[in-house]
This record gives sequence, C-alpha cells and structure tokens, in this order.
Amino acid sequence: MTGRFITLEGGEGVGKSTQAKALAAALREHGIEVVETREPGGTPGAEAIRRLLLDGADDRWSAEAEALLFAAARTDHVDKLIRPALQASKWVLSDRFVDSSLAYQGGAGALGIDAVRGINGFGIGEWFPDRTLVLILDGGVERALVRDGEGSDRIGRRSIAYHQAVEAGFRAIVAAEPKRVRLIDAAGAPDEVTARLLAALEDLLP
Ligand code: TYD
Repeated sequence: MTGRFITLEGGEGVGKSTQAKALAAALREHGIEVVETREPGGTPGAEAIRRLLLDGADDRWSAEAEALLFAAARTDHVDKLIRPALQASKWVLSDRFVDSSLAYQGGAGALGIDAVRGINGFGIGEWFPDRTLVLILDGGVERALVRDGEGSDRIGRRSIAYHQAVEAGFRAIVAAEPKRVRLIDAAGAPDEVTARLLAALEDLLP
C-alpha cells in the first residue's frame, strides 16, 4: 500500500470538521488524491450504525454495547472504504477514527482504554493510521456545550466532566504514541490551524 491514512481527532468544538475540509484541499494542492470520510460512518452500513449511536435516549446502550457498535461501524468502514482506497494508492483523511473510541468510550467512559483497544483489535486488527492529528483548544469543551446546547447528539450532550475526561484521554494518547499522534493547537485563524496540520504531515508528503 502506498496510500497514507491520516486521521483528525479532538473533542467537541475544536473546529475539526472545517479543518478536515481545509486539510484535504491543501493536500490536493500537493497533487495528492484524497478520499475524505468520517466516523461514525463513511459507508452505508456504518452510517446506519451512526444513527443508532447518536440518536435516541441517553441510556439507549450500555457502555459495552456502545463501544461494540462504534467498533462494528469502524470495521465496515475499514473493509469497504479505507483499505480499498489505500490499496489504490489514495490518501484517506478521516474525521475521527479509533482514537475517538479510546478517548470517549475508553478514557471518559466506564471501560478503560485497554478494553476498548481490545474490542477494536477484534474488528480491525493492530491497524492504526500513519498519522493522527489531535486538535486541542483551551476552553473548547465549554464552547461546544454552549454552542450545541439541547441540539447536541447522545454523546455531545454528556457532562462537562465527561468531555474533560475525553480531552485528557486524547492527551494521554499523544504522550504514549508521539510518533503517530501529534497535538495541534486549534487556536487562531483557520488558515493558521490548517498550516499547523499540514506541517505535521510534512515528512509523509510526496
Ligand atoms: P459528530 O457529528 O461526528 O461530532 P463531531 O462534530 O464532534 O465530530 O458525532 C460524533 C460523536 O460521536 C462525537 O460526540 C464523538 C462521538 N464518538 C465516540 O464517542 N466514539 C467514537 O469512536 C467516534 C468515532 C465518535
């Protein structure tokens, strides 16, 4: 496989989706063919699971069932979209991937990071992105909760304490895997943030 698999991660309210589009455009300017995708979702099956995960009552799923559903969606996403694109030498840029499960279901939820890593290992094996960029914004958690209010999904509307634990989970992943995972400051003008993301991929560019 000569394609590269890049994932963008972070908590709520860090401007991640905007940056995913901008980074894909910047990579195309380097002559790279980029497939943009997201989780949970990215394939018809995974998008169907997305609705199960994000809609409905707060207590719809146990912690275990929720982690398994995210992992099931991810397995379909890898099998049907990500791996074939990489085999066709394309780059894949995913808005969220396995590190979201490690930080949300593992770090902030009841299960712990090792259990969630194991569940995902069953689905996708020891298969990790070439580079993961984690956007962190001071005050981002509070900003997102004000912005989304009641309109947020099942997971977005969890407590401030939960989302602070998600951010701590992401920081722990960055500390544990500095080669794969980079912390990116999401503060400042969108163009500046995109430039930081691109700089963190420089060694992978053709
Ligand atoms: P999304 O609409 O993608 O939110 P955002 O704009 O914040 O990326 O909704 C995804 C929600 O699901 C978000 O709250 C993060 C959560 N999530 C997990 O808890 N675990 C996961 O493995 C993934 C991929 C997402």
